[in-house]
Amino acid sequence: MFKRRGAKLATMVLTPVRNKLATAVVRRVEHRSFLQFTHNCEKQAFRKLQKSCVLFKIMDERIREQWDSNAEAFSGLIDGEGTPHHRKILNPCVEVLLGDVVGKKLLDAGSGEGYLARYYAKKGADVTAIDFSQRLIEASEQMSEKEGVTVDYRVDNVCYIESVPNVEFDIVLSNLVLLNVPLLNDAIHEFHRVLKAEGVLVFSIVHPAFNFFGPGSWEMGEKDPKTQRREGLHFKIDRYFEEEEYERYWKTREGEMFPEPISFFHRTLSTYFNSLSSAGFQLLAFAEPQPIDDDPFFDRESRIPFFAVFKAQKI
Ligand SMILES: C[S@@+](CC[C@H](N)C(=O)[O-])C[C@H]1O[C@@H](n2cnc3c(N)ncnc32)[C@H](O)[C@@H]1O
Repeated sequence: MFKRRGAKLATMVLTPVRNKLATAVVRRVEHRSFLQFTHNCEKQAFRKLQKSCVLFKIMDERIREQWDSNAEAFSGLIDGEGTPHHRKILNPCVEVLLGDVVGKKLLDAGSGEGYLARYYAKKGADVTAIDFSQRLIEASEQMSEKEGVTVDYRVDNVCYIESVPNVEFDIVLSNLVLLNVPLLNDAIHEFHRVLKAEGVLVFSIVHPAFNFFGPGSWEMGEKDPKTQRREGLHFKIDRYFEEEEYERYWKTREGEMFPEPISFFHRTLSTYFNSLSSAGFQLLAFAEPQPIDDDPFFDRESRIPFFAVFKAQKI
């Protein structure tokens, strides 16, 4: 009897450990071999094959599920206007780079909760917004209805946009999305395909050289009682060239953990620049925006860039 109980106990303790280990190994193999495959699939002919690749489908589905599960928490974090980092650092820069949007056909690719789609629709753009999370698209539709703004929302994947024909848009905006997609080149090619001649792509990412979710971290000092943030002593960076996937849990404004982790893909700046030029884009501007005022809350972000923004034109 003791033997049977012992075996049962061992199974109870060991099974979750074994499952965790197995998941970790599968993830590692999945993403290592997938990224290797991606690097070998630069040519157009291979990209079709890549999309039908089982590994890509598994990975894509896993990432889509993360966003679906996090949809409510993410919408709460955005809260119809973006976080202070978005409002005080990123969005003003993106708006300047987009220029005049009045009367322009604008695609918001990876629109999330849709606040930027609504913002630019209110400014006079004819906006289509795509996101592969059904739940985020539903939340966006509700917000649009509430605010009385017309945006054409579609569930679609930025790496293979099925709902948009060629040469359709004047502007593609993809805000903080490309660092979440496994197939960067495919997404950039798709943006090129759906843009009209001389159309403009503006996309932003968290700056990959100083991303504390990626290859770096701040050495922190004491908490500043005024800002409630810890002082940044200096930023430590390592393994910048190792392009890989990592997962992080975000927190809500109330400090609660999101239900699922989020996948990020660390890439060097040169990977982004080269992806643009190989798809047929010409770079018009590259920005590392600084906070718009000298709010001490953003001391760290005024010393090293938090975001990077690219503006490119279809040639
Ligand atoms: C960090 S959020 C940014 C959302 C929005 N652009 C914003 O600025 O608030 C990333 C968004 O990209 C979407 N996304 C990630 N990978 C995608 C893919 N392959 N196709 C379509 N949407 C994707 C996610 O569902 C999520 O809404």
